[in-house]
Amino acid sequence: MAKKNRELTEVLLSEQKKYYPSKKVLANANVKDYEKTLKKAEKNPEAFWAEAAEDLVWFKKWDKILDKSKKPFYKWFTNAKFNLAYNALDRHIDEGNGKKLAIIWEDESGRTRKYTYQKLYNEVNQFVNALRGLGVKKGDRVAIYMPNVPEIAIAMLSCLKIGAMHSVVYAGFSSGALEGRIKDARAKILITADGSFRRGKVINLKAIADEAVKKCGSIKKVIVVKNNEEKVAFNKEKDVWYHNLIKNQPIEAKIAEMDSEDPAFVLYTSGTTSKPKGVIHAHGGYAVGVLRTIKWVFDLKGDEIFWCTADPGWITGHSYIIYGPLMAGITTVMYEGVPDMPKPDRIWKVVEKYKVNVLYTAPTLIRAMMRYGKEWPMKHKMPSLRILGSVGEPINPEAWKWYYINVGKKRCPIMDTWWQTETGMNMITPLPCAPLKAGSATKPFPGIIADVVDKKGKRVPAGKGGYLVIKNQWPAMIRTIFNNPERYLKTYWKQVKGAYFAGDVAFRDKDGYFWIQGRTDDVLNIAGHRIGTAEVESAFVSHKTVVEAGVIGVPDEIRAEVIKAFVILKKGVKESDELKVELKKQVRKVLGPIAIIKDVAFVDKLPKTRSGKIMRRVLKAKELNLPLGDTSSLV
Ligand code: WT7
Repeated sequence: MAKKNRELTEVLLSEQKKYYPSKKVLANANVKDYEKTLKKAEKNPEAFWAEAAEDLVWFKKWDKILDKSKKPFYKWFTNAKFNLAYNALDRHIDEGNGKKLAIIWEDESGRTRKYTYQKLYNEVNQFVNALRGLGVKKGDRVAIYMPNVPEIAIAMLSCLKIGAMHSVVYAGFSSGALEGRIKDARAKILITADGSFRRGKVINLKAIADEAVKKCGSIKKVIVVKNNEEKVAFNKEKDVWYHNLIKNQPIEAKIAEMDSEDPAFVLYTSGTTSKPKGVIHAHGGYAVGVLRTIKWVFDLKGDEIFWCTADPGWITGHSYIIYGPLMAGITTVMYEGVPDMPKPDRIWKVVEKYKVNVLYTAPTLIRAMMRYGKEWPMKHKMPSLRILGSVGEPINPEAWKWYYINVGKKRCPIMDTWWQTETGMNMITPLPCAPLKAGSATKPFPGIIADVVDKKGKRVPAGKGGYLVIKNQWPAMIRTIFNNPERYLKTYWKQVKGAYFAGDVAFRDKDGYFWIQGRTDDVLNIAGHRIGTAEVESAFVSHKTVVEAGVIGVPDEIRAEVIKAFVILKKGVKESDELKVELKKQVRKVLGPIAIIKDVAFVDKLPKTRSGKIMRRVLKAKELNLPLGDTSSLV
């Protein structure tokens, strides 16, 4: 795979061929006139979002669409009364759609379960009553550490119905990562499961959760969903089985009328320090942004089977497995397991079995499937598929074309959606009616004004690399960082004056298409997952033999990037291959399996600035034989 060039230099454009939508795609498109729609929204974005907000049910309408008086702490739909969970669930019951299928779940071993909206509603209410019984109130934080099972959706919706904030921690994270997130949010309750399966292997989630809970005084109860029937240690005082808790609860529960701006949830994401940031999203605006994007980007009419292969533990899962599909009243597919079990055509089999209309996945998965060969998807016609999606990292043109030809059979347009945990919703993305270019996320979604600028905020010419910024506001935007408004200001609003700083390098071509190239900061993107170099370094230093570590991302064919570490050992510690293995294990223990380390090198010193910061750029240039660039601050 061609590696992204993160320097702000001239970029050569190779992929200029345009792919146009077929007549069939166009006939079905919710938006037919692309340019006209973009222009109209650009003239008055607030009016555009106010119109989008009409798709939702408000307990009380807003006074003002956008309040900028305390910028950059923007407020949307002020003084409105609203609940995201009402719109994802209760609404469909009230409108007589309880019989519609909300969730189809399947796991690696072939177990399946289905939930209608009515069944989901009943169980959510039972859980709401149970949580209230345990003392969960509006404004509380509830940590969720669960596999991709229907109960994670139930848990999330239940929190929102009460007005409590959920904090979902991806089940691939280790106990240390879970502990840090529980502590930062001061969560009262932890919801987990006995375990999960991965590649047929049992993952004992409860045991990992217990490790974390031991060190978190704030957790009063641990609620355990029985998923894989593994025997787990049970603490009679603290632990309670989910099924016992909901058993005798009524199937109706009161919903909290929230202010539009009340926080709905917190979701942690990596940044440039070793401490992850708790990104806050608000009920009203988040709902408006997510619903409008899912409807337009994936052309929803209301009866689709939608499969987003992410995990609910990431923002992609929050917005496009749970809240987006449920707000749209369609059926969401949840698959718990790996994509190549028992054979490399599992994904295509699931698509055919459930007649999936929209498949939303990640470049890393596509590249992994490419490696198995096109014969696997080619064995499956997948006639139900209409639209494909990609998210998480730039999709290289080779992977784009493979996906387009072998999965979409040249009939399904690919929506390459650029966005972030912080943006809450798709930001730079085509619509099905747009002409596509392989490897470009095309143009900003209607109502979004994005640009590529230099450090001073000046637009750079077409074809030149620069910083990706958003120049206006959008309803699903981050509101603040939990307990850390200074970090919110510094990270997003102090880098380029008057604009939201995304932290990505990009360029626009002569047609105004955006080509995203990767992060500008010390954040790695491993298989579409964000992980900070500082977090990995601090995990290394937590080993008793290590004094200091510097890590960089190096290219990987499937995962885009993996970690190479440069480690300084304590005096007298002997370098050995065994120690390398042990250090890799240590990092995995602290951060979880997403921190994939390719190589560890023992060194005597690390390149640093005069102020003592590790110059990872220099490590990287040496490792990959790239030009060293400006080294004037190097000691
Ligand atoms: C970072 C955000 C919300 C998506 C899941 C990851 C990279 C994401 C794309 C894309 C190029 C992409 C960016 C972004 N990214 N989607 N379509 N093309 N890059 O969310 O963990 O908050 O990471 O992922 O670098 O800043 P996240």
